[in-house]
Amino acid sequence: MKEGIFLGKKNYILGIETSCDETAAAVVADGNQVLSNIISSQVDLHRKYGGVVPEIASRKHLEIMDLVIKEALETADLHVSQLHGVAVTYGPGLVGSLLIGIVTAKTLAWSLNIPLIGVNHILAHVYANLLEHEEIETPLLCLTVSGGHTDLLYLEEWGKYEVLGRSRDDAAGEAFDKVARYLGLSYPGGPEIEKLAREGDASRFELPLPVLENSFDFSFSGLKTAVINLVHNMEQKGLDIPRADVAAVFQKTVAQALINKVVRGVEKLGVGTVLLSGGVAANGFLRAELKRELDKRQVQLFYPSLPYCTDNGAMIACAGYYLLQKGIISSLTLDADPSLTLSC
Ligand SMILES: Nc1ncnc2c1ncn2[C@@H]1O[C@H](COP(=O)(O)OP(=O)(O)OP(=O)(O)O)[C@@H](O)[C@H]1O
Ligand SMILES: [Mg+2]
Repeated sequence: MKEGIFLGKKNYILGIETSCDETAAAVVADGNQVLSNIISSQVDLHRKYGGVVPEIASRKHLEIMDLVIKEALETADLHVSQLHGVAVTYGPGLVGSLLIGIVTAKTLAWSLNIPLIGVNHILAHVYANLLEHEEIETPLLCLTVSGGHTDLLYLEEWGKYEVLGRSRDDAAGEAFDKVARYLGLSYPGGPEIEKLAREGDASRFELPLPVLENSFDFSFSGLKTAVINLVHNMEQKGLDIPRADVAAVFQKTVAQALINKVVRGVEKLGVGTVLLSGGVAANGFLRAELKRELDKRQVQLFYPSLPYCTDNGAMIACAGYYLLQKGIISSLTLDADPSLTLSC
């Protein structure tokens, strides 16, 4: 390990993220001082297909990975030789995309003789909260709501967690994206639904609230089908589709389903802190409604700023720093694990 690491000097970690359609690299000092956070999104490339095309994604990562890292180092005003470690997402995600980041990180770690730290992307979404709130205390509950995951975690301490519940079908973000597509909105659908919902009446209809009694698991595919049926019925009757109202009711119902489980978890486990993370944590309605419920119970809520909710390199560097601090590093045989989960 490089001399000076964890000996009182600043420790610089490069975080690399290529699990889906963002090529991202960031330099973070001592776990939470973000010196640079460069994100090159491929959203415009994939929009016309209504979702991410894996082959296009990996080709684009390959094309711009070096440039993104160069920009991250330049913005941080660092030379590559000043890095103390390279953290990289090794799963879950698209295998071709993950491999571009992993091979790049391995090459850097080997040539610079610094530690390589493989990071679970979903755990990194949770750690994103530490970038701006180092003071967050455990034990806590964390609701991670992203494009591919809906996980409710109990963190007894950082690095020691238990999965209380997860989605049995569609993830929350996936449901936003699919409903948006059905309403003719562009990809990614979450921000589009949120925008449209601001003009809508959330009390216009009732949609079935996904419940799953006696479980912390979630389910969103029934709700998605209910939206499709509602719109389809109106179309058959020749009615205009009140898209803003549909968006508002859908958003309210998803938020309610998520909040119900968090509140139940808080009451059962007696924690005083809740974290929100992942792309759907960018949703202003969800943030405000969850805060309202938690305030009533004197429970503190934290969520990352918008650039740290969706995929970014800073959260990878942050998680990498804390893993490195515990001596958890990867060997140069690190491989992509497209279906990596959070272990129960
Ligand atoms: N304001 C918003 N409201 C609701 N959903 C949103 C909002 N902003 C982004 N999202 C959703 O967040 C998701 C993207 O988040 P993220 O980048 O964390 O997912 P991912 O990396 O594709 O999936 P995962 O992290 O599970 O591998 C998309 O489904 C998008 O629609
Ligand atoms: Mg993500």
